Amino acid sequence: MEFPHLHLSIDQRVATLTIERPEALNALNKAVIQSLHQAVEWLDTQSEVRVVILTGSGAKSFVAGADIAEFASFGPKEGEALSETGHRLLFDRVAAAQKPYIAAINGYALGGGLELAMACHVRISSSSARLGLPETSLGLIPGYGGTQRLVQLVGKGRAMEMMLSASMLDAETAERYGLVNQVVEGEHLLEAAQGMAAKFLKNSGQAHSAVIQAVNAATEGGPGFAEEQRIFGACFGTTDFAEGTTAFLEKRKPSF
Ligand code: CAA
Repeated sequence: MEFPHLHLSIDQRVATLTIERPEALNALNKAVIQSLHQAVEWLDTQSEVRVVILTGSGAKSFVAGADIAEFASFGPKEGEALSETGHRLLFDRVAAAQKPYIAAINGYALGGGLELAMACHVRISSSSARLGLPETSLGLIPGYGGTQRLVQLVGKGRAMEMMLSASMLDAETAERYGLVNQVVEGEHLLEAAQGMAAKFLKNSGQAHSAVIQAVNAATEGGPGFAEEQRIFGACFGTTDFAEGTTAFLEKRKPSF
């Protein structure tokens, strides 16, 4: 099976899905999100696939976020729709998948990239990766579930600091925070993800689906997710959003 902008391989009941848009550090534009949606839907129907590893192409980036150039001219309604569509097609869909997703974070996991890793069920990071939610540097908030899932993973204080400062964590700090389960040298990343998948494979796939469903009953779909979409949209009407996105595209620092 083939999906645009993705590479899929299946070996011994483990699928590895690689996002391939290296010219934009694997940033998530509409086409990549649609393609990932189709791949996740398809993988859920494949009974011979029991675990999915999600990673990015190249050594530099897992995913550097939502595609800023694509949404820079959006207004509030389009911004809210972007967030709602992303949640529905990809982020909530991965979180609710019937089999475990392991994010293998091979480099930058920023904004929508970290949000995608957090929608996965567990995370392994290369030691050189950098992780963060830098949306406030663009005059935005995280709009793909980050305001909710980051708090769940690292606690409110650390999540607030990360989002308010827009700064990146190194992998070691991310592990200490509980944001990633394990850190390994980059050349061993996929091997480590396959090792974790092998541990999962010893156990019941039906029980894995049941664990995901039971855990999600407490952590997914709360009112904060809908609020995030509404507030993300509202940010698109601010002067800081205009300045933040323009500054990124002009490769300069924003002046807030
Ligand atoms: N969207 C679109 N293009 C992006 C991108 C993004 N999120 N991140 C990187 N790129 C592009 C750059 O524009 C550049 O393209 P050109 O070569 O055509 O100029 C190319 O990828 C390489 O990037 P850089 O030249 O910037 O590489 P660098 O090594 O100097 O910096 C980086 C790397 C620190 C990751 C930097 O690219 C960066 O800060 N990227 C943006 C990170 C970010 O703000 N992400 C959040 C996006 S908003 C979001 O995700 C909203 C949401 O929650 C829904």
